[in-house]
Amino acid sequence: MTTKSDQLLRFKVISLGNVNVGKSCLIKRYCEKRFVPKYMATIGIDYGVTRIRIRNYDIRMNIFDFSGHPLFYEVRNEFYRDVQGILLVFDVSNRRSFESLESWLTEMKKELSLHSNGHKSSVIVFVIGNKNDLKRTVEENEAKLWANVRGYQYFETSAATGTGVQEMFDNLFSVLIDTNENGGVLPDTTLPNVNFTIEQVEAINRLRNNKDNFERLGLKHSCTKEDVLAAYKRLAKLLHPDKSEAPGSEDAFKLLLNAKTELLNRFDK
Ligand code: GTP
Ligand code: MG
Repeated sequence: MTTKSDQLLRFKVISLGNVNVGKSCLIKRYCEKRFVPKYMATIGIDYGVTRIRIRNYDIRMNIFDFSGHPLFYEVRNEFYRDVQGILLVFDVSNRRSFESLESWLTEMKKELSLHSNGHKSSVIVFVIGNKNDLKRTVEENEAKLWANVRGYQYFETSAATGTGVQEMFDNLFSVLIDTNENGGVLPDTTLPNVNFTIEQVEAINRLRNNKDNFERLGLKHSCTKEDVLAAYKRLAKLLHPDKSEAPGSEDAFKLLLNAKTELLNRFDK
């Protein structure tokens, strides 16, 4: 007798991210429980199937492992069709690979809307900071914030030691099943709970990461006193610690106050 619990589910998952971040190794670590230190670039796309039993479902997971090389874009773009899960991977020891995530998102969103035929997208994206066995140049909090504020969960892994790999894939299957049971729409419970915006996070980062007070406020050196006051007003509203729940608002607000005072003094000299 066939019951719901005997159901065969097929999922399609793809891997994205710069060359050399460890996409193939992560998949190999999960599927074959091993790690190969020698780098073998993926040429175009690798394909593999893995079968798992979870919550009494029989799952067939089709994994398309993409090359991160821009040369292979034309090959990759065909394979976004009908995708349900995306592993967006960067290397925590390579800051540039983190900074490239935005352009991977742009490619992904463009391709998904091309293939979705107007349906509401319910593709699950996991952002993965791999190689966390190495000396990091991207902090966990920064990456988590980047992912969460865009509505994606964040995981850290090491394909070399195996840390976090099983947990990340278990979570992925769990969310894929929840989505399937929810009629193909991502349940709210699978989304990170954030009460702040990308605009707030970017304003905080700009205040923190710049030494120059004009740049902290997003202004040019040629700006007027009125520009300073207007930028201050806008940012104060955005980051006031009584209103903003974005992490780091309080310190950023102090930086903002100091920057404003220092800049106004210059104009009054
Ligand atoms: P492309 O296929 O070219 O896009 O690269 P990829 O993202 O698939 O990278 P791949 O998995 O081939 O790994 C690249 C290199 O990083 C290899 O030399 C791996 O051995 C190494 N590597 C992968 N994961 C880890 C990790 O977690 N820690 C360390 N230390 N090295 C890793
Ligand atoms: Mg590869």
